[in-house]
Parts: sequence; C-alpha cells; structure tokens
Amino acid sequence: MTGPSGSSQDADELTYGTYLHLDELLAAQHPRTDEHDELLFVVIHQVYELWFKQILHELALLQRRLEAGDGVGAMHTAGRVAKILKTVVGQLDVLETMTPRQFASFRPELGSSSGFQSSQFRWIEATLGRRDFPHPSGDATLDAIVGRRSVFASLLRYLATAGWQLPAEILDRDPSEAWPGDDAVQAALLEVYQDERAAPAGVCEALVDIDEGIQEWRYRHVKMVERIIGARAGTGGSAGSAYLRSTLFRPSFPDLWQVRSRP
Ligand code: HEM
Repeated sequence: MTGPSGSSQDADELTYGTYLHLDELLAAQHPRTDEHDELLFVVIHQVYELWFKQILHELALLQRRLEAGDGVGAMHTAGRVAKILKTVVGQLDVLETMTPRQFASFRPELGSSSGFQSSQFRWIEATLGRRDFPHPSGDATLDAIVGRRSVFASLLRYLATAGWQLPAEILDRDPSEAWPGDDAVQAALLEVYQDERAAPAGVCEALVDIDEGIQEWRYRHVKMVERIIGARAGTGGSAGSAYLRSTLFRPSFPDLWQVRSRP
C-alpha cells in the first residue's frame, strides 16, 4: 500500500530503520582501502552532501517566502540555513583530527575525485547568486538555477512589495547575469536599516549571516586543507590551497556588505 507521502509501507508497519531507509544509508559507505581513517573521510563527505541537500530545500522555501512578502517566515528560514552552516563549519574540527600521514595512507586511491565536483555546493552558490559558471555548464540543474532569480533578487522583490522604491529594470533584470551591486539598491538598503527592529532589516541581517557562513566555510576548508596536504596540488587538478585561497572573501550579497561603508 502506498501512503500519502508515496511510501510503500503502512504507518503501523513502519520502524525507525524502515522510515529512515537505514539499510540503504548504512550500506552506502565504501572505503577503497583498509586504512582506518578512510571511513571518516567518506562519512564526513556524505554528511556534508546531506546538509547541502537540506540547505537547498530551505533556500527554495526562503525564496518562496520572500516572493510572497512573508518577512517573518523568511527570517526564520534564513536563520535555519545560517545555523546549518555553523554546524557544517564545526564538522571540519572532526576532519582536522586526521593527520597528514593518515590522509596520505589512502589519498592515492581517491584518483581525480574531489569536492570540486560537488554539484550541490555549486547549486547552493548559484541559488544565492553566483553566476560565473561556463554556459552551458554541462549540469542541467545548475543551468536551470542560473536561469532563475537568485536569493538576492528575491530579497529585492520582497523589499519592493514592502514599499521600497526599486527601479523596474533591476526587479525585472535577466537572472542569468552576474550582479555586481548597485547604488540605488544600496540607497534602499540604507533606508531599510533605519528601522533595525522591523522585519525587512531582520531579513537582510539573516542573509548576511548566510553569506558570512559560506565564507566562513571556505576559510575553514582552506585552513583544513593546508593542515592536511600543505601546499600540494588537489586531487581535482587545482593548485590546492593556493587555488582555494583565491576563492575567499567573495560575498554572495555584495550590496549587504557595501552598504555598511555608506554614510
Ligand atoms: C582531507 C580533506 C580534504 C582535502 C585535503 C580537500 C582538498 C580540496 C582541494 C585541494 C580542493 C581544490 C580542488 C582540487 O584541486 O581538488 C578542494 C575543493 C573543494 N572541496 Fe575539499 N578537501 C577536503 C575535504 C572536503 C570536505 C569534507 C568537503 C565537504 C563537502 C569539501 C568540499 C569541497 C568543495 C565544495 C570544493 C570546491 C571549492 C571550489 O572550487 O569553490 N572538501 N578540496
């Protein structure tokens, strides 16, 4: 029998294990060596991918709430995403208990596989607003995300609905174009921040938390990489930590940072 959620089991037959599909989940770790530390490497990446899935799920709701003018709901969802990011940054502490020697014991088996190839990480960045991908990218989901409004574009729609004057050409711009930041938008944001206790200012701050969370993840990832492989090249073919350092301090929402330097 199929339940309302499409599952094939009656609720009264459900157990913890069948509800969570633990047989499949716990059978999905396949270290390629007998080295003790490889299981941690597999598990931590899989846990990341699950959190990335959840973040994408929450960002979709965040955009729906912004576009529906639901500021309090958007603040709550953005707050959840920021908390997940704190959690995933914290998980790097566990990985940092792995010494360079322990990682080296199985690294040759990784071939050219690399976090570089994490589709979900790219989808998160694209959903937030990153646009510097080749087009077409070879990833249909990424291309579809790039063709839709970013979280920042949804924020602008929310602010327009809440009464702030934003130029129509900005609200209706081509979503696939990179967003460099804009004076008129920053002038509006400055006004939004005049009332720091109102929902629109709270929504903006929650988006800053997300932006800072992603940048914090990148910083902690590169420090972890320096600890574990030093200045060696990455398995994905990049220069390793030198490449990763070049990706630091690039905000997803530049206006929300630039507005802080405005009088
Ligand atoms: C021993 C642990 C790790 C090492 C040594 C490592 C190393 C690297 C290196 C060198 C790169 C640059 C691309 C390359 O040439 O391969 C990279 C990229 C990346 N890694 Fe890791 N990584 C580790 C763990 C993780 C974990 C746990 C995640 C979580 C998903 C992750 C996610 C990523 C992502 C998303 C990128 C792409 C960054 C970008 O291009 O913007 N890495 N990693």
